[in-house]
Amino acid sequence: MPKKIIGFSKLSRNEQIAWIGKNFLKNSKDSLNILNKYLNNDNELQSIHNSFSENSISNFYLPFSVAPNFLINDKNYCIPIVTEESSVVAALSYSGKFWYDNGGFISKVVNKVKTGQIHFNYSGDVESLFLLFDKIKDRLIKSTNDITAKMQERGGGILNISLIDNSGKIENYFQLSVEFDTKDSMGANFINSCLEKIAINFKNILDAESQNDKSYGDVNIIMSILSNYTPECLVESIAECSLDNLNSLKENSNENLSKKIKLAFDIANIDINRAVTHNKGIMNGIDSVLIATGNDFRAVEAGAHSYASKNGFYKSLSKCNIKENRIQFVLRIPLSIGTVGGVTNLHPLVNLSHELLGKPSSDELMQIIGSVGLAQNFSAVLALVTSGIQKGHMKMHLKNLLIQKNATKDQINKADDYFNQRKIDNKSIDDYLKLNN
Ligand code: MEV
Repeated sequence: MPKKIIGFSKLSRNEQIAWIGKNFLKNSKDSLNILNKYLNNDNELQSIHNSFSENSISNFYLPFSVAPNFLINDKNYCIPIVTEESSVVAALSYSGKFWYDNGGFISKVVNKVKTGQIHFNYSGDVESLFLLFDKIKDRLIKSTNDITAKMQERGGGILNISLIDNSGKIENYFQLSVEFDTKDSMGANFINSCLEKIAINFKNILDAESQNDKSYGDVNIIMSILSNYTPECLVESIAECSLDNLNSLKENSNENLSKKIKLAFDIANIDINRAVTHNKGIMNGIDSVLIATGNDFRAVEAGAHSYASKNGFYKSLSKCNIKENRIQFVLRIPLSIGTVGGVTNLHPLVNLSHELLGKPSSDELMQIIGSVGLAQNFSAVLALVTSGIQKGHMKMHLKNLLIQKNATKDQINKADDYFNQRKIDNKSIDDYLKLNN
């Protein structure tokens, strides 16, 4: 077993690779070749990438794709997509095209409030604490003026602070919950800086008050951090069309198609086994745009799944309604994202993604991303209730499987025709390779 290493981050890239090679890699020469192959020859670009993370020894590529024909609020978008899942772009392109001819997506920001909490212990008189809090609330907000000045100029900042008594759940545990409007930035650093400043001031004020009045007890700050639970930072995207148009979508289908789709959405509304997978399909589209636009997909994932269980049980984030002769799909999802700050201006491809989308505001980007999530969801469910997911999936995956089986270029080129009407699985690929040897 390798010994614990101290000061790894201080080593040069070569020294870091040598240490990894000696301790963890079988063939360190081959590994070094791979790591070097993925470095960029443009030193300036490489150093930008190195600056994103510590101990960076190479780059990790993912395909940068586009999905055209996204009509959202009457504007035509070409969506930047970063994903390794081969069927995502095909599904989005299919959905984009269909909805383009059916009025597109209508998308709106429902609300855009983010919160952060100062978690603290307090051992004194609770009523006195609440009375004092009412008096010092504005002072606490003003104590962040040096941090919030620029945000206020843009119309954002701190919206409110409330004191929450959680001592019934954990002894002496209280919270200051702060609401923010962070305008076009995701605002994580901004929120956390404000919270830390408020926490210091709050403790100082309480400490000073308790010198004169012993009914105030000690305040012990436990932590100050934004919340990734963002149920007040919501977008709603809707797509709707006539039942006839939907039913004519797949060959040989009839009105059963819309009934089946509606049922599939209803199942995801009541069964957690299906709901999680249904929502994963939504996130396939959403995460791809989040990555392409330099947003924190972990934050959005955490927020989305917790929102899906906000009523105490986990359910789908989207629903399907049929009324008279129309079918409607609705996705409501919290999206705490930004179009400025973070890596937005630093990562050249992220910058390009924003340009591709017409340099949207964060509201507009929320509307785009919500629509992409709904489009992905629609395609996935449509495939599931018709041909099944594997047909399209395996078609997209065919080339990967052939490469894994060392197929020649010629075998790869001819494979699409051969498998056009055939099932794709391990055995059929082996048969094909034998036949075309
Ligand atoms: C696969 O990545 C996503 C799906 O499972 C989503 C769904 O089941 O709705 C196809």
